[in-house]
Amino acid sequence: MKMKKMKKTENDKSLKKALPVKKNFKKEVPQKKIVLKQKSVMKKDLGERKGDRARLVGTVKGQHHEIIQMLVDDHKPLKRLIDKMKDSEASMSVRRSAFNEFVPLLTIHARSEENSLYNFEKSEIDMREEAFEGYVEHLVADQLIEEIKKTADKDLWGAQVKVLAELVEHHIEEEESEIFPEFKKCTTLEDRIRLGEEYQVGKSKIKGDVLHPQIRIEETTFVASH
Ligand SMILES: [Fe+2]
Ligand SMILES: [Fe+2]
Repeated sequence: MKMKKMKKTENDKSLKKALPVKKNFKKEVPQKKIVLKQKSVMKKDLGERKGDRARLVGTVKGQHHEIIQMLVDDHKPLKRLIDKMKDSEASMSVRRSAFNEFVPLLTIHARSEENSLYNFEKSEIDMREEAFEGYVEHLVADQLIEEIKKTADKDLWGAQVKVLAELVEHHIEEEESEIFPEFKKCTTLEDRIRLGEEYQVGKSKIKGDVLHPQIRIEETTFVASH
């Protein structure tokens, strides 16, 4: 019996040496099959969930370009910085650098949101009051930011930054849980895509003003002198 086993093992070894290509081929085939299977399952799954796959693809595409998704995406870095700013146990340098990063991001987001979303809401009777509430909360945040910039006392600075962080945190929570769902009910996907484009264009313009104010001033002076 032992002799037979030995012979079988030697035969296997010699077969493997003679067919190295077949060994690699065996590994590749199942991997390709798995990938193809996953893709077909995803397609089937999407189609079954919504029925009309063409309409579904359009909707999924739209979600990437519609204003609500853009606003929610822009809230994410603000929330991350809010957590650092209001953390009384964090060092002053961590909180100061979070504040310095937070201010231009909030300014760009808030001005563009006012010029697109709030401007649209203002023209709708059902959303008009919420739009003005949003404007006022942005204004209060702007005024507090100006105060914080002038504050030398580090304890007062910490208290002001904490209030600012909590104010904007509450504002964002209200937008995401109440304002955006209400706005979605009153608008079509086309409205939201158009406003999304307005939001993006507004952001690019405001970004230039916020991040490079000196360049803008010089450009204006040059044009004015001719
Ligand atoms: Fe807002
Ligand atoms: Fe917002």
